[in-house]
Amino acid sequence: LSRLFFTYEGIPYPVTMCTSETFQALDTFEARSDDIVLASYPKCGSNWILHIVSELIFTVTKRRYEYPEFPVLECGDSEKYERMKQFPSPRILTTHLHYDRLPWSIVKNKVKILVIFRNPKDTAVSFFHFHNDVPDIPSYASWDEFFKHFMKGQVSWGSYFDFAINWSEHLDDENVKLILYEDLKENLATGIKQIAEFFKFSLTGEQIQTISAGSTFQAMREKSQETHGAVGPFLFRKGEVGDWKNLFSEAQNQEMDAKFKECLSGTSLRAKLKH
Ligand code: PPS
Repeated sequence: LSRLFFTYEGIPYPVTMCTSETFQALDTFEARSDDIVLASYPKCGSNWILHIVSELIFTVTKRRYEYPEFPVLECGDSEKYERMKQFPSPRILTTHLHYDRLPWSIVKNKVKILVIFRNPKDTAVSFFHFHNDVPDIPSYASWDEFFKHFMKGQVSWGSYFDFAINWSEHLDDENVKLILYEDLKENLATGIKQIAEFFKFSLTGEQIQTISAGSTFQAMREKSQETHGAVGPFLFRKGEVGDWKNLFSEAQNQEMDAKFKECLSGTSLRAKLKH
């Protein structure tokens, strides 16, 4: 497995998606105050939120946001930040980085950041299936093996818990808003309305309903090959809350609950996150 990752400042990243040159160039990225940042640990629903925000922009501007680069800010080649200077506003940037690792210009310009969290158990299960379903990325011999790596943070983008600890310190910043996967699943239209309000997009109730109908798991999965190519059906796998119950043993459940408590007690995320 180890040859499929490289480590940059202590965190493992997949060699197929990131390079250390790109990380070195990251601070040359020039953020604009009207950029839109979507931050999440992998498998917490970033493609879902990216779709919703793209639809909001399209509804308001009538311009389809054609993204000429892979949307994850830290992925791709090191020349991308230069090319991104030409992209029209508002640019949407997704990232799996810790707040402390964001390019300084995002912090300095107080760029609006939507942070998406999902409970760690479903996140781990989604991550495991993704590794084992998609060709060209590392696969694991068993769920138990993946679980051990996940708990130690020896997976792409490092530890879920370190990510959560780092972001939990910034959830009350005025330019940051937290969205939970589980809340969005429970009431999609309400979540979309909150996202629209945060970015100050003015939409009618009918427009929100239209975006909502096109953003359900079923609607997105149906179009997934068209929108995401061959990886689409793996990316839009099941889209459920509680799938962890199909894989976790009772011992793993207790281990994760204890880790969650240990890492997040004292943070505002502990009460908010459903686990
Ligand atoms: S990635 O690879 O890190 O970019 O993955 P990411 O997009 O963050 O997360 C993938 C999981 O999000 C689920 N998903 C959805 N759930 C509910 N409704 C909608 N519309 C939706 N779109 C994506 C997707 O199915 C992945 O979760 P699992 O549990 O694997 O199905």
